[in-house]
Amino acid sequence: MLNKIFISDTIAKIKIRKEDQIMNILKLADLEVKEIEEILDNATAFKSGQKKVNYNGKKIIANLFFEPSTRTHYSFETAELKLGCKTMNFEAETSSMKKGETLYDTVKTFESLGVDAVVIRHREDEYYKQLENINIPILNGGDGKKDHPSQSLLDLYTIKEEFGHFEGLKVLIVGDIKHSRVAHSNIKVMERLGMKVYTSGPKEFKDDDLEFVDFEEYLPQVDVVMLLRIQLERHAEAMNINNEEYNKKYGLNSENVKKMKENAIIMHPAPFNRNVEISDDVVECNKSRIFKQIENGVFVRMAMIEKALS
Ligand code: CP
Repeated sequence: MLNKIFISDTIAKIKIRKEDQIMNILKLADLEVKEIEEILDNATAFKSGQKKVNYNGKKIIANLFFEPSTRTHYSFETAELKLGCKTMNFEAETSSMKKGETLYDTVKTFESLGVDAVVIRHREDEYYKQLENINIPILNGGDGKKDHPSQSLLDLYTIKEEFGHFEGLKVLIVGDIKHSRVAHSNIKVMERLGMKVYTSGPKEFKDDDLEFVDFEEYLPQVDVVMLLRIQLERHAEAMNINNEEYNKKYGLNSENVKKMKENAIIMHPAPFNRNVEISDDVVECNKSRIFKQIENGVFVRMAMIEKALS
């Protein structure tokens, strides 16, 4: 009897130790500022070529995307390949989820197959709460309207690359704040790093706990203008504003872009709706860092993967 108690106690301790070692990256609120800075520094070292990591095909990462994605999915896969990992790209449509398999059982299957980490994007807020008994690292590729940690990290990286610091910078996030995991993720972490964040857009896109400022008034005052896509797929009702009106009132176009500060930059997580939140001729103008964000995302995700596998 005593032996039995001793053995089950030992198994429980081993399990606790094993779970403690799993480095999930689910939301940036879980990371200390020091850890965020470490990821950004490692991303810089990967980008400059100063840091090289090669798992020589000994690590397998599965990318499980339950919502459409181009950037996050293939940026993670590029990062995985650059680190010498093997990759698996899960297709929900042809998987046993079509036969009713749960998210937990699907991820547990990848763990049982011997995969070393998973990247997951899912339409449900905090889907990862169902995955507490998974014993391999989970990298959140975006959950519902809540968090998008890898996007926030690459946004931070791009801002730091531009200005060299965060403290005191003014950021104006414009558009569909209510449905945006990018906005929700960024507002929290940017304020934690000493930036002043303003939000603006049509009133139906406002979160209850946020104030919206006047776009035209704040546009000339800020260092970063971050535009957001109108996320029609998450809207319960039709918008009260057409695309042309939106572009005039809340979009960046060839006229109002001239009102920005000389050194201010334009960011957008993309995909963007051309000629709605951003006009064609602004997408690649000299203030735009949109494609730079995508480029930086690979190095940031390399640093995230390295942290998760470490
Ligand atoms: N920015 C972003 O998350 O883009 P995707 O939806 O293409 O991954």
